[in-house]
Amino acid sequence: MDVIIQCVLAVAIFCLILIRWHLSRIYNYWEKRGIPYEKPFLIFGNLQFLMRKSVWDFFYELRKKHSTDYVGIFLGWKPALVVQTSELAKKILQKDVAHFQDRFLYADHSDPLGSLNLFTVKNPIWSDMRHELSPMFTSLRLKTMTELMNINAQQLVKKIKRDYVENNKTVNLKELFSMYTSDTVAYSVFGLRVSVLSDQLSPLWYITNHMVKWTFWRGLEFSMIFLLPAVAKLLRLKFFSAAATEYIKKLFWDVVENRKNTEKTNSKDLVNHLLKLKENFKLPADVNSEFADNLMLAQAGVFILGSIETSSTVLSYCLHELAYHPEEQKKLYNEINDALTRSGKDILQYEDLMELKYLSSCIYETLRKYPTLGYLDRICNEDYKLNDEVTIEKGVPVLVNVLALHYDESVYPEPQEWRPERISASSDSDNLHYTFLPFGEGPRFCIGKRYGMMQIRAALAQLVHKFKVEPGPVPYYVISDPYSVILAPKNGGSVKFIPR
Ligand code: HEM
Repeated sequence: MDVIIQCVLAVAIFCLILIRWHLSRIYNYWEKRGIPYEKPFLIFGNLQFLMRKSVWDFFYELRKKHSTDYVGIFLGWKPALVVQTSELAKKILQKDVAHFQDRFLYADHSDPLGSLNLFTVKNPIWSDMRHELSPMFTSLRLKTMTELMNINAQQLVKKIKRDYVENNKTVNLKELFSMYTSDTVAYSVFGLRVSVLSDQLSPLWYITNHMVKWTFWRGLEFSMIFLLPAVAKLLRLKFFSAAATEYIKKLFWDVVENRKNTEKTNSKDLVNHLLKLKENFKLPADVNSEFADNLMLAQAGVFILGSIETSSTVLSYCLHELAYHPEEQKKLYNEINDALTRSGKDILQYEDLMELKYLSSCIYETLRKYPTLGYLDRICNEDYKLNDEVTIEKGVPVLVNVLALHYDESVYPEPQEWRPERISASSDSDNLHYTFLPFGEGPRFCIGKRYGMMQIRAALAQLVHKFKVEPGPVPYYVISDPYSVILAPKNGGSVKFIPR
C-alpha cells in the first residue's frame, strides 16, 4: 500500500513540476521580448479577477499601473498585447487594419448563431455581411425609427409617472431602459409592436432577460467567450445563452410563417431585409441551406444584443450624472424646452434632436467617462512590426485600451469629472483624433452607432423635459457589475424622478 501511495505522490509531484515548467515558459513571453507586462498568477494568467471585478475595471486599473504605450498581459495562457495611445490605436484599427481584420473572441461552429453574427464572424464572410447589412442604417430608415423611439419614450415617461412617482417605487435604471430599448428592437428586428413598458407580455423581453441578465453563470459564459475562447470552445458555450438562442430561432420562424400566411410584410424591419438577403447572398461553396438560415438568425441576435445592452447602459449613467449635476441638467432642460417652443411641436423629431448640441455633448461625455466596451479586440493575422522594439506575432490578440485614451489627463484634465462642455465632437463619427472611441473605429466600428445615439437622444429629450432628476440611493461613484463584460452599473443604478 505504501508503495502505491509513494507512486501516486511521485506522479503528482512530477505533473506539478511539469505544469510549473510549462507555465514559466509561457509566462516568459513578454519578459523575453523586453516588453513591460502584468505579472501573471498561477494558471489564470491575469484573469484571476474574473467574476470578482468587472473587465472594465481591469482595463481601467491596468492603465494606472502601467502608464506605458503598450503592456503585455496573459489571457489565461495566451499572451495578448494591450495598446494604450491614440497613435497605436489608429495603427491597429485603421492604418494597418489588413493585419488586424478579425476579433479575437470565440466563434465556433458548435454555436452557429454565436459565431456567424456580425460582431463575431470572421473574414471573408464578415466583409460581405457588413456590406449587406449597412443599408439597414440609412438616414431615411433612422428617421422612421425615430418616430417609434419617440412613441416608446412616451411610454417610458408614463411608466415612470405610474411606478416611480405615484407608487414611489425605487427605480432600477438599467432594467427600465432595457425595457425601452427592448420595445424598440422588437419592431426594428421583427416588426412587432409590443410594449413591456406598458406591462404587456413581450417575447423580446423574454429574450433580453436571458441574453443580458448578468447572473454569475451567464457572466462567466460571456467572459470566457470574450477572454478565454479556447475554453469557451471546449465547453461549447453560447454567445446569446442557450435559452435566448432557441427563442430567437422560434420567434424568427414564427414571424416568417405568419407573414407567409397573412401575406403581410414590413418592408422596414430586419427580418424582411434578411429574407431578401438570403436569396441574393453569395455563400461559400461548401455550406448548406442551414448555414444560410443560421447566418440570418445570427444577425437578428446581434441586433437585439447591440440595441438593448449598450444604449440602456449609456442612458443609466447619463441620468445618474445629470442627477448629480443640477446646473448641467438645467442647461439641457433649457435647450430642449427652447427647441420645443421654437418648433411648436410636443415631441422633437429626428432633425430637431440632431440639432441639440448640448444634448449630444451630455451623451458624448457620458460615453467618454463610461465607454461600454473598455477595450476593443483584434487578432493579428500576420507578423506585424509595431515599432522598432515590438513585433506582434501572428495569432496574438491586440487589445486597444479605450479607458487609457478616455482618461488621458493631457487630453481630458481631471478625467473623473463629468463635464459635457469639454466634448464638442463635430458629429457622432468624430473620434477626436483617436482620443474618443466609444463606438470603436476602422472597418469594424459599431454598425448601430447612429441608431444607438438616436435611441438615447429620443429618451433623454423626453425624460429631461418631463422630470427633474435628483440623486437616488446610489452614491456618486457607481460600482460596475463584476459579472458583465460590457459595462453595466451594479444593481442597475437609480435616481429620483420629480415631475416638472
Ligand atoms: C450607444 C450605443 C452603442 C455603443 C456604445 C456601441 C458600442 C460598440 C463598440 C465599442 C463596438 C466595437 C467596435 C470595434 O471593435 O471597433 C460595437 C460593434 C458593434 N455594434 Fe455597437 N454599440 C452601440 C449600439 C449598437 C446598436 C444599436 C447595434 C445594432 C443595431 C449595434 C450593433 C453592433 C454590431 C453588429 C457590432 C459589430 C460590428 C462589426 O464588427 O462589423 N451596436 N458597438
